[in-house]
Amino acid sequence: MKIGIVGFGYWGPNLLRNFSAFDNCKVEVVADYRPERLNSIKKNYSFVKTTTNADDIFNDATISAVVIATPVFSHYELAYKALVSNKHVLIEKPMTASGAEAEKLIEIANAKNKVLMVDHTFLYTGAIQKMKQLVSNGDIGKVNYFDSTRINLGLFQQDVNVLWDLAPHDISILAHLIPEKPYSINATGISHTNNGIENIAYMTVNFESGMIAHFNCSWASPVKIRMTLVGGDKKMIVFNDMEPTEKLKVYDTGYMVKTDEEKHRILVDYRVGDIYIPKIQNNEALSYMASDFICAVTKNTKPVSDFNLGLEVVKILEGAQQSIKQKGKEILL
Ligand SMILES: NC(=O)c1ccc[n+]([C@@H]2O[C@H](COP(=O)([O-])OP(=O)(O)OC[C@H]3O[C@@H](n4cnc5c(N)ncnc54)[C@H](O)[C@@H]3O)[C@@H](O)[C@H]2O)c1
Repeated sequence: MKIGIVGFGYWGPNLLRNFSAFDNCKVEVVADYRPERLNSIKKNYSFVKTTTNADDIFNDATISAVVIATPVFSHYELAYKALVSNKHVLIEKPMTASGAEAEKLIEIANAKNKVLMVDHTFLYTGAIQKMKQLVSNGDIGKVNYFDSTRINLGLFQQDVNVLWDLAPHDISILAHLIPEKPYSINATGISHTNNGIENIAYMTVNFESGMIAHFNCSWASPVKIRMTLVGGDKKMIVFNDMEPTEKLKVYDTGYMVKTDEEKHRILVDYRVGDIYIPKIQNNEALSYMASDFICAVTKNTKPVSDFNLGLEVVKILEGAQQSIKQKGKEILL
């Protein structure tokens, strides 16, 4: 399987390194507008061709798959060209800049019988695989809430707001862990720059079952926090991605609510038990992601991070964007 990579900025080199490590896959060409980005490839990967024109990849009939690692506004056009050129496609997160674009790509991929996958890398980490197991096995019980914080003194992006930049990770984790589809969104945010692009945003995703998910994203925090809480009615999980080894902790913590009929008030019984630190795999998630894509192409398997998940993430981001523009109004999905 020969692949071409479009986009060799910050993330592209990680994709080249990981795809190059597989025996059944060869990175044939890397394209980037900026020739200076391609210079390092000659030094470390002398067998990989380079070009400043992505069309060279789409027009090469020996290339069966394209990996797109460019800014989000260009994803649709590049993926569209790749699919109509009969290539399988892996797009970096977030899949597209709108739900309509993602739906169109899915339609073409289905019509052409091509793999269309999105790199939601977190789904391939040992921590999220373990969380999925804990949630699916019923170990933590019925999930009542999901609460994520992804804040730091981040690079202010020029084209997308902080939610589009940071929340795809957390939304993909939510969508992977919880099969239930959300019904509405409220979001607020603020821009402290004159381009109007929000650098702090808060988003709440509502579910019919009563579960609630909250996301706090910021490029303006003095400290870096990468933390997700998943609260079940039996146990609660804390995922702290800043921890080098003990990233996941499972708290045998909970509460029972009773109603005091005479005094018409609720009584809460708290339970604080043991804390368990599960062992998690520490291999590079991007390698598992690349392997999932190669398998989907060569063995026709269903990838973990498939286009439906990619579309769901984009729809939630789009709903959040609408809500922010209307000062937090509830947007039905
Ligand atoms: N999965 C992850 O954890 C992860 C991490 C970082 C970035 N990303 C995603 O990767 C994508 C790229 O992010 P980045 O930080 O590497 O951006 P970047 O701006 O550093 O790099 C993008 C590169 O694409 C090139 N480019 C743009 N349009 C092109 C075109 N039509 N043809 C050829 N080259 C083109 C640019 O010249 C640039 O070098 C984004 O979608 C981002 O969200 C994913």
